[in-house]
Amino acid sequence: MSTAESWDDLPEVRVRVPAKINLTLRVGHARSDGYHELATIFQAVSLYDEVAASRSDAITCTVTGVDSHTIGPGKDNLAFRAARLVQQEYGVREGVDLFIDKRIPVAGGMAGGSADAAGALLACTTLWGIPATTDDLIALAGRLGADVPFLLMGGCALGRGRGEILTPALSRGLYHWVLALSPGQLSTPEVFRRFDAMTPADLPRTPEIPPETMMALTSGNIRRVAACLVNDLTPAACSLMPELHAVINAGRDAGCLAWIISGSGPTVAFLAEDESSAMDLAVALSSAGVARDVRLVTGPVPGATVLP
Ligand code: C5P
Repeated sequence: MSTAESWDDLPEVRVRVPAKINLTLRVGHARSDGYHELATIFQAVSLYDEVAASRSDAITCTVTGVDSHTIGPGKDNLAFRAARLVQQEYGVREGVDLFIDKRIPVAGGMAGGSADAAGALLACTTLWGIPATTDDLIALAGRLGADVPFLLMGGCALGRGRGEILTPALSRGLYHWVLALSPGQLSTPEVFRRFDAMTPADLPRTPEIPPETMMALTSGNIRRVAACLVNDLTPAACSLMPELHAVINAGRDAGCLAWIISGSGPTVAFLAEDESSAMDLAVALSSAGVARDVRLVTGPVPGATVLP
């Protein structure tokens, strides 16, 4: 499938896109464009949405799976916007029918919407035979949202700026996470607004990742990484959703190595020593009845990938 001729024959392209968690999320000052300056470490994890693209005259988007009833099919949908952006940038005249099968919770702090946009970018450029490089796609992705570039890249990366300026991070080892999916949703802008209201105005212009965090990542020592997990948005997320305290306490009681609210929440990610401890933790969290769903995932995993 490497020649332009063979792409022309494709009836459908399917792309798998991972979710992300932030191992570190340091938030700096609010910029004039409404975004906050970030220093974050992203890790892509094995919870996937699937985006299928097939030829059409117009752009349509159909969403099924987890939380799909909360997503609009139209122009506000980030995958729809991604398809239109590719059309405009490359002067494509044909359309695409996008089918999204969701596993990543919507408004859960795991970049579910951004994953679909990343998937749509890759699926559309592949379907339409556009010779875009990864760098081209990453540049387009940054115009759709702060997390979209990372979901194309995957693995583990340091994010700066709004989160879209990426540097791959050296990371050793496989991480076993238990995700507690919340029954509710949190709006990212609202969490950042609450963060501003709760935080003194003299925030650093450029927040930093402590060197010991980078060293812990390269060491592959899970316990060292566990000691470095930090998310500046935690007080804001917990103040908007106080039920999160019960989720966090249940994971601590069940013996997690560490916990972190993923992005702006409300998904809580619990780090386990190994696969068997992760399984025990998942059982304990499920029985505690504090989460809508409990998922075992591993990371880092690759970013958006075209399926055979
Ligand atoms: O880029 P994305 O559309 O995912 O961001 C959603 C909202 O989250 C932004 O409009 C902004 O209010 C907030 N945000 C922020 N700083 C960031 C990323 C997101 O304030 N670095």
